Amino acid sequence: MAKYRRWLKAQEAELDFIVSGLLESSLDAQYWENVLIKDFSFGDRSFWKGRVIEIGCGIKGMIHFVKGAGLKVGVDPLALAFKRANLSEFPGTIRLCAMGETLPFQPNSFDRAIIYNVLDHTNNPRQILKETFRILRPGSKLLFSLFAIAPWVTPIRWILDLMDREHPFHLTLQEAVSMIKSAGFEVVRMKTYKRRAYRLWSCPPSSSKHWKHLGANLLHYSVNCIAVK
Ligand SMILES: C[S@@+](CC[C@H](N)C(=O)[O-])C[C@H]1O[C@@H](n2cnc3c(N)ncnc32)[C@H](O)[C@@H]1O
Repeated sequence: MAKYRRWLKAQEAELDFIVSGLLESSLDAQYWENVLIKDFSFGDRSFWKGRVIEIGCGIKGMIHFVKGAGLKVGVDPLALAFKRANLSEFPGTIRLCAMGETLPFQPNSFDRAIIYNVLDHTNNPRQILKETFRILRPGSKLLFSLFAIAPWVTPIRWILDLMDREHPFHLTLQEAVSMIKSAGFEVVRMKTYKRRAYRLWSCPPSSSKHWKHLGANLLHYSVNCIAVK
């Protein structure tokens, strides 16, 4: 229950962040294409086939820009709040309000899943991965990305868990990969790199956001992988 309350606070902070317009306006088709090429080392559009789902799709997540899929579904617990705030919707993507921990779909319903920058925002990361495994067909692929903490940060992670408002969890690469594997997936490709300081210049050094992002950039690195059911 304590964790659930913590998660609700994180979601409030996430919604404030999105509604305040701080989310990068550059999240568009080009941005996501670059992510696939740079972070996942592929620009192969035929990757997207059949039914594709993004868990924690936000307002401008990758799913909204994927081309070639038969069906595109984005799931996010804030989907109704996005609608109420008149935030952008994209024709061609069905956005549903649901928790990733209890996905409202039959087993084997999807061919591709995306979990991008979401696991550390959730209430139960392990359960999200198990649910994703359940709703994917055998042989289907998961595209996964996370800002992981460096191992040396783990002794102070309880401070981050308390103070880093949007993130109830702070996972290391090893922990994330072990969760993916214990959900049943096989990791077939992985790329990690130091987190880029992409938001630093958007906030002046006089603002607290500047220092928050500097801290995050120092502590985190980006983990990107493809896993197969
Ligand atoms: C940082 S945003 C990422 C959004 C999108 N994936 C992107 O890359 O632009 C994290 C998203 O995870 C969602 N989220 C938080 N808890 C969740 C949960 N339990 N199940 C599914 N999504 C969740 C939040 O509402 C938020 O939209």
